[in-house]
Amino acid sequence: MGGGARASVGVGVTAIVRTALPTDLEAIDVIERASFGDPWSLRSFSDSMTHSFVRINVVEVGGGVVGYSVVWLAGEESELANLAIEPGRRGAGLGALLLDAVLQEAHEEGALVIFLEVRESNAAARSLYARRGFHEVGRRTGYYRNPSEDALVLRRDLG
Ligand SMILES: CC(C)(COP(=O)(O)OP(=O)(O)OC[C@H]1O[C@@H](n2cnc3c(N)ncnc32)[C@H](O)[C@@H]1OP(=O)(O)O)[C@@H](O)C(=O)NCCC(=O)NCCS
Repeated sequence: MGGGARASVGVGVTAIVRTALPTDLEAIDVIERASFGDPWSLRSFSDSMTHSFVRINVVEVGGGVVGYSVVWLAGEESELANLAIEPGRRGAGLGALLLDAVLQEAHEEGALVIFLEVRESNAAARSLYARRGFHEVGRRTGYYRNPSEDALVLRRDLG
């Protein structure tokens, strides 16, 4: 995500999507812990950053990181492995902005399809994904911990 997607998220406020840097890891970790009962470790993010098949993007508002996405690329298939927006910044279109950037980038990298897993009870995320054309193709029983819950597997064709 070299140039970066931009969008207005309020009067005079612009959001920018760009490739994550090692210096973003602390901010990503804070948002991750505020967003999930079973958060990834900081190490998972830093390790991911070193893999050529992983794309981590952040969305910045006013020079501060307020969200991130993690995508795994595998030829014609891709997976959205993580996506979160800082709690105080939700509902302003930033999740949709990041997701649109993910879909565009995965397509540009040659993926024909993208998958993701989402907690069954996660109404906000499920609504976001439905609005972007994802549909349910499976269920992983007891996939999540803290609390234990099934994951729904969603899929969207790209291009
Ligand atoms: C899911 C998440 C990334 C959405 O980010 P966001 O910036 O709040 O979302 P946006 O403002 O871009 O909203 C986009 C769409 O998401 C849906 N949405 C967002 N918040 C919602 C809510 N509280 N209830 C229902 N739908 C919601 C709507 O469909 C919305 O479209 P609309 O505004 O046209 O109605 C955010 O809620 C989040 O970080 N949640 C915690 C982490 C998480 O669950 N990540 C997904 C893991 S699979």
